[in-house]
Amino acid sequence: MSKSSDVYKPSNEFSKAARISSMSQYKRMWQESVEQPEKFWAAEAKELAWQQPWKKVLEWNAPDAKWFVGGKLNITESCLDRHATGDRKNKAAIIFEGEPGDRRTITYAQLHKEVCQFANVLSKQGVKSKDRVLIYMPMIPEAAVAMLACARLGAVHSVVFGGFSAESIADRLEDSGAKHIITADGGWRRGKVVPLKDNIDEAIQRNKAIESVIVYQRTGQKVAMKKGRDFWWHELAADASTKHEAKAFDSEHPLFILYTSGSTGKPKGILHTTGGYLTGTYATCKYIFDMRDDDIYWCTADVGWITGHSYIVYGPLAMGVTQVIYEGAPNFPDFGRFWKMIEDHGVTIFYTAPTAIRAFIKAGDHFPEKHDLSSLRLLGSVGEPINPEAWRWYHEKIGGGRCPIVDTWWQTETGAIMISPLPGATPTPPGTATLPFFGIDAAVLDDSGKEVKPDEQGRLVIRKPWPSMTRTIWGDKARFKKTYWSDYDGLYTAGDSARRDKAGNFWIIGRLDDVLNVSGHRLGTAEVESALVAHKAVAEAAVVGRPDDLKGQAVVAFVTLKAGFDESEKLQKELRDHVGKVIGAIAKPDDLHFAPALPKTRSGKIIRRLLKELVTTGSVSGNLTTLEDFSVIENLQQRLAKS
Ligand code: WTA
Repeated sequence: MSKSSDVYKPSNEFSKAARISSMSQYKRMWQESVEQPEKFWAAEAKELAWQQPWKKVLEWNAPDAKWFVGGKLNITESCLDRHATGDRKNKAAIIFEGEPGDRRTITYAQLHKEVCQFANVLSKQGVKSKDRVLIYMPMIPEAAVAMLACARLGAVHSVVFGGFSAESIADRLEDSGAKHIITADGGWRRGKVVPLKDNIDEAIQRNKAIESVIVYQRTGQKVAMKKGRDFWWHELAADASTKHEAKAFDSEHPLFILYTSGSTGKPKGILHTTGGYLTGTYATCKYIFDMRDDDIYWCTADVGWITGHSYIVYGPLAMGVTQVIYEGAPNFPDFGRFWKMIEDHGVTIFYTAPTAIRAFIKAGDHFPEKHDLSSLRLLGSVGEPINPEAWRWYHEKIGGGRCPIVDTWWQTETGAIMISPLPGATPTPPGTATLPFFGIDAAVLDDSGKEVKPDEQGRLVIRKPWPSMTRTIWGDKARFKKTYWSDYDGLYTAGDSARRDKAGNFWIIGRLDDVLNVSGHRLGTAEVESALVAHKAVAEAAVVGRPDDLKGQAVVAFVTLKAGFDESEKLQKELRDHVGKVIGAIAKPDDLHFAPALPKTRSGKIIRRLLKELVTTGSVSGNLTTLEDFSVIENLQQRLAKS
């Protein structure tokens, strides 16, 4: 790559081989695609497998979108059948590496068979079209098989990240109304077993609605199996045929619900539908990762997050690419694991998160230096803004100064990447996701709805509908409208603040709502607060984020105790563990401060802004007139100075 004044450009060689090889080509295509988005998206959708063509590309009644109206498809045909019955039959779809080091390669033909077989299993268990199925699995190929088997039947999967607690599972079961669960005995993480089945057992103790729990045997320890409710995957599969006819579903048929954090304590069930979602993930894999038949692609996300849905399962499989799936932790047995895997498997495209990159930087250059990373040709980043220093390290130490980096901005709600460089075209200053993808009309607006001037901060919005956009929050249309569509008439508000530079690049600054970004994962401050307040010792809690070198943001909790409970280190630990138990380990407060009182407005609202300032800078400034009692802040300031 070449570089001038900190703007990196792809080499001529890279550009020439890429689908989009120049800025003029990008600009021309982008202009056309936002003037006629339906034309652009229809051309992409045509490359996928449809059983019945659509009659109309888009029906748009903001905020209700219908894409490819009248079209019918089975999403798994694009991801599996067409490869398995064509030239990619014996091509590896998945190269799997378990944390203990076990390896498996699964071809497209085999993956197709496994999905068909498991679809037959689910069918026999009574799973039908539109039924919700909760999936709680380790990062093994069967997680993808379970998702695809649901999709094949038109059932709606709802994957819950394996790091979430029993209580989180219970909440999601209740909200989604799922009656079937697919899980494993356990998964490997840092040499230990994550007890997935035990967590499920705890989550469904009081849930009478659950009809079946299918358990994949991964770790082999003894687990409780309740007769008539719990079944071993391998036993059911042994009796099932590997043939399954793919029925066609409406383009707008619900595909999955994925829960994500919002500004209240209750996570939102983001609903995605079929035809548009597939088109969005496919087109972005094609142009942004420029995936080719000889690529070995590796996305290090977990299928419990949207990145795993769009860029491990649906997009890459629709492209027919070979991908690596890894089960475990990046630092097991040490921080060289990823680099060893890139060398061993000849990975060409690598997609990870800034939080991981920062952890690698801290661990030391000697880890990547021990490995031959010359197979890499393209790098990606997702989840939060990547600090320019981390970008440069990634570029130099991992990409050998040779690989373009695509810093991809998007969200659970957007389904697919919205803003990103195109690797063969876009000049990239480190730290910006640069420019919108084809068909995406992104802008930064002020409160009155006007576009801000270059370098001014505002709210990031998308002005035109796109195929992979979320259709609603499951069971809560009012919240959907209020959260995303009420700031400006007919425009989607992302909840991020951003600015554009003179070249038009989008610099994402951070969330505008009460959502933290901890290690690239969304966490609602209200969720953590509710968990704390549920503890018998806690009267009131306020949670804010503070900048953290590794995690991006760290979770800081202020807790007021009920009368009769005393501040102690023991209670501090107990409360942190309690949050871990209620939500999951990622939500455990990094700092927990006892506070005799919390800063409040005269009307009794906690002013989190002041707490945030306090933990970020050590003091508070600016407008304090709304504060009811200034001594509360003084007191906290003194306590923090001592701690
Ligand atoms: C943040 C993850 C800056 C952003 C795909 C967004 C980013 C939230 C980037 C969505 C990026 C994601 N640069 N910020 N490249 N990617 N974000 O739903 O705040 O887990 O709103 O989706 O992550 O997180 P989510």
